[in-house]
Amino acid sequence: MLTNIGFNPEEIMTQNTLTKRLSDYQPYPFELEMVRLDFRLDPDATQVRARMAMRPLRAASALELDGEGLVLRKIAVDGRVLAASEYTQSDTGLVIHAAALPAQTFTLETEVEIAPAANTALEGLYMSNGMYCTQCEAEGFRKITYYPDRPDVMARFHVTVAGDAPVLLSNGNPVAQETGRAEWVDPWPKPAYLFALVAGDLVAHSGSFTTMSGREVALNIWVRKGDETRCAFALEALKRSMTWDEQVYGREYDLDIFNIVAVDDFNMGAMENKGLNIFNSKWVLASPETATDSDYERIEGIIAHEYFHNWTGNRITCRDWFQLCLKEGLTVYRDQSFTADMRLGPVKRIEDVSALRARQFREDRGPLSHPPRPDHYKEINNFYTATVYEKGAEIVGMLRQLVGPQGYRDALDLYFERHDGQACTIEDWLKVFEDSSGRDLRQFKHWYTDAGTPRLQVSDDFKDGTYTLEFTQKTDQTPGQGDKPARHIPIAVGLLSDTGADLIETKILEMTEPRQSFVFEGLSQRPVPSILRGFSAPVVLEFDTGHPPDSAFLLAHDSDPFNRWEAGRRLALQTVVAMAQGGAADPSYVAAIGALIKDGAADPAFCALCLALPSEDQIAQALHEAGKSPDPVAIHRAREALATALANAHEDALSALYDAMAVSGPYRPDPEPAGQRSLRLAALALLRRIDGGARAQALFDAADNMTESLAALGQVVAAGVGEAALATFRDRWQGDRLVMDKWFAIQLTASAPDQALSRAEKLVQDPLFDWKNPNRFRSLMSGFAANHAGFHRVDGAGYRFYADWLLRLDPLNPQVAARMSTAFETWARYDLTRQSLMRAELARIAQTEGLSRDLSEMSARMLG
Ligand code: PHE
Ligand code: ZN
Repeated sequence: MLTNIGFNPEEIMTQNTLTKRLSDYQPYPFELEMVRLDFRLDPDATQVRARMAMRPLRAASALELDGEGLVLRKIAVDGRVLAASEYTQSDTGLVIHAAALPAQTFTLETEVEIAPAANTALEGLYMSNGMYCTQCEAEGFRKITYYPDRPDVMARFHVTVAGDAPVLLSNGNPVAQETGRAEWVDPWPKPAYLFALVAGDLVAHSGSFTTMSGREVALNIWVRKGDETRCAFALEALKRSMTWDEQVYGREYDLDIFNIVAVDDFNMGAMENKGLNIFNSKWVLASPETATDSDYERIEGIIAHEYFHNWTGNRITCRDWFQLCLKEGLTVYRDQSFTADMRLGPVKRIEDVSALRARQFREDRGPLSHPPRPDHYKEINNFYTATVYEKGAEIVGMLRQLVGPQGYRDALDLYFERHDGQACTIEDWLKVFEDSSGRDLRQFKHWYTDAGTPRLQVSDDFKDGTYTLEFTQKTDQTPGQGDKPARHIPIAVGLLSDTGADLIETKILEMTEPRQSFVFEGLSQRPVPSILRGFSAPVVLEFDTGHPPDSAFLLAHDSDPFNRWEAGRRLALQTVVAMAQGGAADPSYVAAIGALIKDGAADPAFCALCLALPSEDQIAQALHEAGKSPDPVAIHRAREALATALANAHEDALSALYDAMAVSGPYRPDPEPAGQRSLRLAALALLRRIDGGARAQALFDAADNMTESLAALGQVVAAGVGEAALATFRDRWQGDRLVMDKWFAIQLTASAPDQALSRAEKLVQDPLFDWKNPNRFRSLMSGFAANHAGFHRVDGAGYRFYADWLLRLDPLNPQVAARMSTAFETWARYDLTRQSLMRAELARIAQTEGLSRDLSEMSARMLG
């Protein structure tokens, strides 16, 4: 089908017609007042009857419905079966000719047949371990029935499910339940992407919540039998989320029941279907023996995220998929704030910025760079990206800084008041901020429409008591976008005295020009600047080499925890980059880390983050940003050497810390013990370099929780002495899917680079490598790609192995294959040999006969 993209003019034509553009938006010419869906479930032949009350908004419009892979059994208008000449069917839908339609409201009735058991793409109605479930975002509903499958068409759904499963669920409130049949009515109009249906032999872990106006809501987490003992944490997290949204955003839940279902086969993390959230079981089920501290934190955050969508996504949805960051950026911002409130705010901020840099900055530096609000795409599934989600959240955070906390709350109140029940755009969102704050946000809007990470250069000057900071901003060209106008950047700045005291309160400087100076008067000494506190904008900060900041001083004294950590990271990066080019470990960094280890006052979780060295991928990115081509092998060696140097220099202190941070008593996932464990494990990771893995082996043997067990396993593998522990772990956990995912991943991320590929090749032969399960596939393949020097082997065998598996998965599950192809997005960073090897794999993928639209768009974009 698509071969050799870009050379054959006919193919270019098809490619272009497949491109969807924001500028082509047209409202739908019918209003859908109400839809009744009747399902008769069967694995091979599910019958779906749909009856839709349609009101024409424009005279004589044809009625276009989306539909894919459906067998049409009946189509009728107001009870009259249509003749074949009255409509046209295609691979992507059905058009009823205008002449066949009444001018007033009419009822359209269709009957189709689908085969959920044959659905391997996990989009639409599919089966997972005998259970029926749906995934409709973004465009999966069209695989269930003929429908205007676009988010600006909203309707009230009345659903009947008939089937032999004991539990039959859909959106809204239950109105009738009997054996083999259930009826659900959702009173809130919604787009089709929020539709959900689940049927299976499930058990519930239940609870209830009383809302701020005193309404009682039934809460259920539905799981397979045996898993109900692992739901308590998620249920409590749900209650905390509901309370927080009432207290912080004034948002109350709006149905009598809230259901969550855990599914083993799921392409993404979770989905916010109205009143019936569906979760990848990985992000619901937790017990101390099977989930790590970071799993617990993520579960709490994802439960909150999906719950928060009820207002930001469901009650107010997106007009079209270009506006995806309207719901995702805001909801990520909300879940990040929630976790910051539940746990340690500064630690959460550091984690979020680390993730942003690792995923979004990486994306933005490469061929897949795109604006948070893209203006064209071929396959929307390819735009569920770090840029839409995480950068989208940063933009909301910047808006909050510009208007202040009260201004933000006012704006959000207005947003809910003005737009409840609507399908909105980024323009609507910004207008709310303009109207409530009186500010002009036209320049700010470039954050949404322009791609690329701005680089912010700073230089300073001190004369006669006046301190001047001068900033220059520049955003590099990105695919399809040349020179870009200056952005409106909030820069949070503090000034420190030479003893480390704050000379001023943190001030938000608003940069709007390409080059701009800010002065601070009446200072008695030259201050030490602390710039971009809290990471107030998603930019790359570059210091004028004439006056680099005293990072060791900031690491010791900055009152802003983010910038303290950032100073340590800067030092670590500088020294490891120098070491990768043959230098030695910087003694001032080694000393600063020593001081931190001995600083009894520092928070353990914060310290642990400071002790963690930047990943090899991040080091490679830093080199690339500095205009150098990274050598993966040298980076690996340098990072190991730096860790060894730290361990040698501070062996006694680290060892004392390792003992002191042992947590006694039964495992609790709370922030405090979790913080202690994280510091203990950070010490373990350094000590492993000099004790040959002895401590890690002892911890592995003794651990009673997954956090320590898994970390210890990683360390013995990294020390090259992990075979026995890997076998023990496999024996113990082979019956547990979620834990086995960890086993597959850790031995690839932790193993020596020159063994990673052979290990991966062995693991794909393991009978437990069920590659059709997205979690299992990702564990193995992403684990391998995360072994930076192993994946980037200079003979290209890592690339070939990875591409082979993407091509194998693509016909079954294009969405996951396409997402995982981003392992190749960094090709431009590397030397010419690796570049051409990576590009050759991308070209091989792009030229494959019958490639999915998803993977074909991704490979074409990466090839540029
Ligand atoms: N909307 C989901 C979320 O952000 C993500 C998702 C997208 C899930 C597409 C499935 C498919 O929570
Ligand atoms: Zn979301």
